[in-house]
Amino acid sequence: MKTITKPDAMFKAVMAVKTKGKSVGFVPTMGALHEGHLSLIRRARKDNDIVVVSIFVNPAQFAPGEDLKKYPRPVSKDIALCRKAGVDFIFYPLPKDIYPQGFKTYVSVDDLSQVLCGRTRPGHFRGVATVVAKLLNVTQPDILYLGQKDAQQAIIIKRMAEDLNFPVKVRVMSTVREKNGLALSSRNAYLNKKEKEDALVLFKSLNLALLLIKGGLRDAGRLIKRVRELISKKKSAKIDYIAIVNAETLEPLNKIRGNCLIALAVRIGKTRLIDNVLLKV
Ligand code: PAJ
Repeated sequence: MKTITKPDAMFKAVMAVKTKGKSVGFVPTMGALHEGHLSLIRRARKDNDIVVVSIFVNPAQFAPGEDLKKYPRPVSKDIALCRKAGVDFIFYPLPKDIYPQGFKTYVSVDDLSQVLCGRTRPGHFRGVATVVAKLLNVTQPDILYLGQKDAQQAIIIKRMAEDLNFPVKVRVMSTVREKNGLALSSRNAYLNKKEKEDALVLFKSLNLALLLIKGGLRDAGRLIKRVRELISKKKSAKIDYIAIVNAETLEPLNKIRGNCLIALAVRIGKTRLIDNVLLKV
């Protein structure tokens, strides 16, 4: 396994293997790797000759006042996990390698970036789309691996790849959870014991939603109300949004029908957590 920090060196390394006809799978991450990331890496390992993982805490997707500074960066542990998972290249750039002085170009994916998480995190998905576009140019993958955990991000990146003719397939892998249902996230590290228990309310409320739909409920407003009531019972929980939207367009649904995404963002104490479930009605 090789760790490369410079974009041009990464590009050269990957082109050298690609000209030999080898396929490349790419997993972009911000590090603090857990089983969620590893599930993407393992799938990439299975599907491709060469696996590239990027570790880069992308300043462009954090707003002022968000957790850029305190975001966990256990780099040597991450490198060891990648080695164990059979990664070929780690791309580990510095912010100045990705955003050198004079940087002016950003990628915005309209509409899809303004709803759900985009409402409370303006500019977030512009930062995500920009860095992923750059990372795709640098790593030239055949397949890009993303997690369903960040459903809106996956939809936005798929849209961008199609709109900008990136010659890449996008594969979205299901959310990896703890045994109790809590979706794995690097930000779970911010939670204390009590908050970690309270955070289970996200998974519980998604299950309640599924149960109600299974029982025949089709009115989105009523569903959201029931979910809101459940989450509000937790004192430490502050709801950012509860949404039931079309799973491709992210447009809100009145009647629950077709491919739906139920998505939540909830603050537990100071930590903002997201979770979602896809369903076909
Ligand atoms: P990060 O949060 O590190 O996540 C990297 C990838 O792992 C994303 O595709 C995310 O959806 C996936 N992932 C995270 N938790 C998961 C879980 N519990 N189960 C399955 N997959 C999971 O998402 C980002 O970084 C950044 O925005 C990035 C795309 C790297 C751009 O900076």
